[in-house]
Amino acid sequence: MVELLGAEILGLDGVTAGYRDTVVLEQVSASVGANEAWAVLGRNGVGKTTLLMTIMGLTVLREGRIRFDGGDITNMDTHRRVQAGIGYVSQEREIFPSLTVDENLRVATQPGEWTRERAYDLFPRLAERRRNYGNQLSGGEQQMLAVGRALVGNPKLLLLDEPFEGLAPVIIDTLIGAFARLRRESAIATVLVEQQVELALELTQQALVLDKGQIVWRGASADLAADRDNLAMLVGLQEAR
Ligand SMILES: Nc1ncnc2c1ncn2[C@@H]1O[C@H](COP(=O)(O)OP(=O)(O)OP(=O)(O)O)[C@@H](O)[C@H]1O
Ligand SMILES: [Mg+2]
Repeated sequence: MVELLGAEILGLDGVTAGYRDTVVLEQVSASVGANEAWAVLGRNGVGKTTLLMTIMGLTVLREGRIRFDGGDITNMDTHRRVQAGIGYVSQEREIFPSLTVDENLRVATQPGEWTRERAYDLFPRLAERRRNYGNQLSGGEQQMLAVGRALVGNPKLLLLDEPFEGLAPVIIDTLIGAFARLRRESAIATVLVEQQVELALELTQQALVLDKGQIVWRGASADLAADRDNLAMLVGLQEAR
């Protein structure tokens, strides 16, 4: 595994952003190290998806700067951010329904260690379905394809928005296994938005909690997992299972 201690891959500096008529994120600052895994937690509607979209350049940025891999990407187009090495699995998955699994992977491929074959090795189910069209896949298969597609883009940073949402437990287990393997075998930093708080904290080293578009807690995932009272207060009792 590549050790790049201290090197920052993503930096947000006083980011205030939202949509045309609304400001959602206010003065968000954060620094993600190369190869770190971060959880982004918080109740519904606090701005988690907006944060990932802002990193991708898909929102209206009012104030602040965004750094990626040593450069300033504040004004960079979304597709250039992808080319620069940010992989994004949105909450909607957004695979191409009229392309096959293999074609979906092919169009997203950029040079690097992650090839289609390696994605198939990570998700054997996708290999079995390689000639099926996107609209012939189950929800779980679509999600595997969305993750696989981000990986063959060979990102330095992978943004995942609720990748386990709506999936059967056995599929969630497959994805968790893939995530763990990815962490072991690849030097990819990850930002994971996840409603299942305990799962998110298990899969990451660092966490931040958003409330009403602001960061209200940040620190080691293990510390937050151990602090039940704080967890219940920050993300809600029913979620702190
Ligand atoms: N396209 C949009 N235009 C205007 N406002 C939006 C848009 N998308 C989201 N919002 C608003 O921004 C706020 C934050 O939404 P966001 O989707 O980032 O929350 P979230 O934390 O991801 O929620 P969830 O847990 O439900 O996915 C909400 O008040 C939402 O209504
Ligand atoms: Mg969301």
